[in-house]
Amino acid sequence: MGDADWWRRGVIYQIYPRSFMDSDGDGVGDLPGILARLDHLTWLGVDAIWLSPVHPSPMDDFGYDVSDYTGVDPVFGTLDDLDRLVAEAHRRGLRVLLDWVPNHTSDQHPWFRASSSSRDDPRRDWYVWRDPGPDGGPPSNWLRYVGDSAWRWHEPTGQFYYRVFLDSQPDLNWRNPEVQEAMFDTLRFWLARGIDGFRIDALVVLVEDDRLRDNPPNPSYRPGEDFPYMRELSVWNVDRPETRELAARMRKVVDEFGDDRVLLAELGVPLEQTMAYYGGDGGGIQVPFNFELLTAAWDARGIAGYVDRYLAALPAGAWPNWVLGNHDSPRVASRLGPAQARVAAVLLLTLPGTPILYQGEELGLGDVPIPPSAAIDPIAQLVPGRGRDPERTPMPWDAGPGGGFTTGRPWLPVGEENLSLNAAAQRDDPASMLTLHRRLLQLRRQTPALVTGAYQPVEADGDVLAYLRTTPGGDRWLVALNLGPSPARLALPGPAAAGRVELSTQPGRDGEPVAGSLDLRGDEAVVVSPTGHADAAQEPDTRPG
Ligand code: NOJ
Ligand code: MG
Repeated sequence: MGDADWWRRGVIYQIYPRSFMDSDGDGVGDLPGILARLDHLTWLGVDAIWLSPVHPSPMDDFGYDVSDYTGVDPVFGTLDDLDRLVAEAHRRGLRVLLDWVPNHTSDQHPWFRASSSSRDDPRRDWYVWRDPGPDGGPPSNWLRYVGDSAWRWHEPTGQFYYRVFLDSQPDLNWRNPEVQEAMFDTLRFWLARGIDGFRIDALVVLVEDDRLRDNPPNPSYRPGEDFPYMRELSVWNVDRPETRELAARMRKVVDEFGDDRVLLAELGVPLEQTMAYYGGDGGGIQVPFNFELLTAAWDARGIAGYVDRYLAALPAGAWPNWVLGNHDSPRVASRLGPAQARVAAVLLLTLPGTPILYQGEELGLGDVPIPPSAAIDPIAQLVPGRGRDPERTPMPWDAGPGGGFTTGRPWLPVGEENLSLNAAAQRDDPASMLTLHRRLLQLRRQTPALVTGAYQPVEADGDVLAYLRTTPGGDRWLVALNLGPSPARLALPGPAAAGRVELSTQPGRDGEPVAGSLDLRGDEAVVVSPTGHADAAQEPDTRPG
């Protein structure tokens, strides 16, 4: 695998800049803060960082409402700070990806200010403006993310504008070639500055049906359980053919700068639709996010079945990926509990494909409860119970005041429980979640089978999920995960799978010989190296790096 494949081998770490590290005491994380903590990331052993948006923004959606695509918001620092971060990251062998938000801008972006100023403004057509429908109401029945009409009435110019997210996040009109070129140029701006790629925000909602056809109702909608917009089948305003074509053009722009730049994309559509974004002949998005593990029932048979379906659905040459958490989803340790979060880490880092790790997952952080009265995320008001503050709280670096995150008052609380999981406390503890992550990342680096090896499911029952990762040379690494609390026994798939325990999520098993069958403790995941493997049973190197 050449350099162009770094993202296939590599592990991508998502940084939520507001909450990673604050360098100036204003309680909000920033770019110099990230720079100051780069050693954590290289010591941990990840390959790339993806930064949630750092551009100028009124912060209605904490940066996902961009008012200047080629700048840096003062709360995060300056363009120089970003250049410095990229240079320092590259010096350490870390790639840097930015978040690119093409579907909508902030309503404070000069483009929308112009577009909304008058119907005759040259930028009017840069956003999606429509007259009312025949009944004087919205022009179609489309719903926005939080469940009401996606059309927002604009009194001063007497038309509706379309917006999938907040009122202050109007959708761009991607049918307009000027919009396409202006937005592609924002990619070029960053690529020319050495950015290694992008995570594309909300890609599937880019283009809407030009005839504004109404969506049909969703017969399997579960009120209270599903997001309110799901009461409709969003067939006419989500994942349109034009959006897939534009994804391929985004890829072409990125390819102008060499073959080692990468596009990740947030989709959130079913499997078959996700696959379409890889594009014909691999000319689309290299990493269309696979969100299954964010919501999947924690059930061994269900997950094993999904892995099979997912891998089978990949088009030729496409590379898989796995996401366990992000800034929009409850944290994995809160969803599964601390013991199964360790099992999940082994799963994420040994399944075939690029793992995407969300900041704090390596510490086992949980959601910090935020009472409704203290909620900051606007979604908390719009869809009660769905606020995203709990998974966005600051990183606890040490046990000091502000968790070593800030000398000021953190914008969201660090949280008592998360404080006790601080990085300093875990760093030299061989049993910690942090050490587990570091060992897994080291193991991946030393073990081609775990990165590029073929995937072969192993027959198991009950709560056990097991698979082999094999190389053409005949190496067979076994991964066995117990997704339940009771001990379980796995029959090994033939004598060639014998070996020894290379790593367990629980203490005291390293180096244990394995033959015939493997006994798993409750909530335990184990990686078994093949007999004769040279690096087997090494002690982890937990020295400060
Ligand atoms: C997805 C982002 O991850 C989320 O945080 C944001 O609110 C929406 N897209 C809108 O940009
Ligand atoms: Mg759109």
